[in-house]
Amino acid sequence: MGMAVVRDQRAMIQIVDMRKVYKMGDVEVHALRGVSVKITKGEMLAVMGPSGSGKSTMMDILGCLSKPTSGAYFLDNVEIGKVGDNHLAEIRNKKIGFVFQSFNLLPRMSAIHNVELPLIYAGMGRRERRRRSMESLESVGLGDRAHHKSNELSGGQVQRVAIARALVTHPAIIMADEPTGNLDSKTSVEIMELFEKLHHEGNTIVMVTHEPDIAGHCQRIIRLRDGEIESDEWIKPMTPLAREVHGDIPLTASPALSFADDD
Ligand SMILES: Nc1ncnc2c1ncn2[C@@H]1O[C@H](COP(=O)(O)OP(=O)(O)OP(=O)(O)O)[C@@H](O)[C@H]1O
Ligand SMILES: [Mg+2]
Repeated sequence: MGMAVVRDQRAMIQIVDMRKVYKMGDVEVHALRGVSVKITKGEMLAVMGPSGSGKSTMMDILGCLSKPTSGAYFLDNVEIGKVGDNHLAEIRNKKIGFVFQSFNLLPRMSAIHNVELPLIYAGMGRRERRRRSMESLESVGLGDRAHHKSNELSGGQVQRVAIARALVTHPAIIMADEPTGNLDSKTSVEIMELFEKLHHEGNTIVMVTHEPDIAGHCQRIIRLRDGEIESDEWIKPMTPLAREVHGDIPLTASPALSFADDD
């Protein structure tokens, strides 16, 4: 049994003994078997682990796309399990910026129109929407491509539009599942440099990746195995807040390279 975990208001994200069981007829798949994690504001975190270890299941729950079978999830001091479905959609739209691996932009729409979609859903007026979307495109270096359609952009630029869209609501947290999975290595480095810039500007970022090089850009690496946390390491210095919340965890020299990912 997991040890008792106490609610910690200093954490931007806290999951407590989270379990997820998928029922397939008579068979139960235990995708998460009691995971507890705290993430503080401003962290840049990679989630790694073999195929089937529970990474996407955990991300879907963190992103409020699905609910755990048991356990508690606090996001920005809201207990997500106690929130009704309508309000949940609102929280998801406002507080979480998603970057998906398959670039899910609308192909016949301009970059700026793709970026402003979350603000349309949020009911924001056109002028303010355009201003915010332009600001967001500029922050990813695409101010001069605002009126290009996705099929008139390079792969890296398309991914940057997806990141601009994730940023436009000023979310509490940016979540990315394999954000560089479809990109060549040069473009991947470009995208990771962008995530690092966003991190230095104070954004909180959680990403799933199989690639040690990509994880090496993060501060902290959590490894899942069979639905449990196998390790939780820091490879870059902690912020004072992180040290306060997590305790003083010694730096690991090069953990990203010292493990072989099984898949
Ligand atoms: N909707 C579902 N119904 C039943 N079982 C599922 C479902 N989604 C995931 N699983 C099972 O839960 C486990 C964890 O799956 P998950 O998708 O979280 O793995 P992952 O770590 O993201 O793997 P990958 O690296 O391949 O994306 C797997 O054994 C998977 O087969
Ligand atoms: Mg997955």
